[in-house]
Amino acid sequence: MRAVTFDRFGPPEVLGVGSVPEPHAGPGEVRIAVRTAGVAPVDLALRAGDSPSRDSLALPHIPGVDAAGVIDEVGAGVMDHAVGDEVFGAVDVARLGGASARFAVLAFWAAKPAGWSWQEAGAAATGVETATRALDLLGIADGQDTTLLIDGASGGVGSIAVQLAVARGARVLGTGRPGSHDFLASLGATPVDYGPGLAERVHALGIPRIDPALDVAGAGSLDELVALAGGSESVVTLADFTGPARGVRLSLGRYGGQPDGCHGLERAADLAVRGGFRVPVQAVFPACRAAEAHTAAAAGPRRGKTVLDLTGLTPHI
Ligand SMILES: NC(=O)c1ccc[n+]([C@@H]2O[C@H](COP(=O)([O-])OP(=O)(O)OC[C@H]3O[C@@H](n4cnc5c(N)ncnc54)[C@H](OP(=O)(O)O)[C@@H]3O)[C@@H](O)[C@H]2O)c1
Repeated sequence: MRAVTFDRFGPPEVLGVGSVPEPHAGPGEVRIAVRTAGVAPVDLALRAGDSPSRDSLALPHIPGVDAAGVIDEVGAGVMDHAVGDEVFGAVDVARLGGASARFAVLAFWAAKPAGWSWQEAGAAATGVETATRALDLLGIADGQDTTLLIDGASGGVGSIAVQLAVARGARVLGTGRPGSHDFLASLGATPVDYGPGLAERVHALGIPRIDPALDVAGAGSLDELVALAGGSESVVTLADFTGPARGVRLSLGRYGGQPDGCHGLERAADLAVRGGFRVPVQAVFPACRAAEAHTAAAAGPRRGKTVLDLTGLTPHI
């Protein structure tokens, strides 16, 4: 099959379209004819050779963990979906990629909400899984009166976390650069500039203390977040590996070896069907322009996800 691949580590230009063997659905998996696949920071790190997984990566490698498409093979034991269903989901993280191809094997998935574009669906799964896990860890319960601060709110994970937190009833402060404030407000967050001095800017909004805080950016704000939240136990980071040394929980989920069990995809899809959740897509590139997609995904300002359209690899679409 045709796929986006790289056969050496390096800059985005190492990406190309090549021929690789087709994958097949194993037990508990489905294979999809891929329409779209998300581009995530983990894909950029793997391609650059900056990931701890570098040595275990077989080359050529197919980047991408999130995808959407139409099921064309169902593995043993899969009862909830059948060939022909439109779904979105993510590959098995142990494979570290494989979504940006004509066919991809999904380890977890849900029905694609009819109101979502294929671009939204292909970009959704890891952001939803990560945001759901983080909000659960922070104890953001439905209908609870809480003020959550999300640092790094305009990116792929942050823009999803804002919406899922608002849907649970939280008041959300979302950090971003000034040019992203309108975007953050459109998601339901009260925008605040990111960077040093965050606590003063939050206080200037008339908010003496927030509880809790989520660090999505990993940009060195943990001490300020701990001070604002009144303690390290009220802060979770998804990206700052100094967190545990500061008493802050670092949640790595599926990338840290935890199972994909409670991924939140159905819940987010239900919310989407009710009109309460969109997946912000910043840019879409065809497979033949995968290098441009990786360059765009690395550059600010980020307002949601960068997506690859793989339909050009599939002759019958
Ligand atoms: N632990 C997990 O399970 C897990 C899962 C998925 C992702 N991650 C990690 O989480 C991080 C975010 O992922 P993503 O997909 O959301 O990335 P992304 O789309 O690149 O977004 C990064 C966000 O951080 C913002 N940012 C940049 N500098 C900042 C600063 N100094 N202070 C606050 N915010 C700043 C960016 O805003 P501008 O673009 O406007 O500068 C952007 O909104 C990555 O490190 C990723 O590897 C972890």
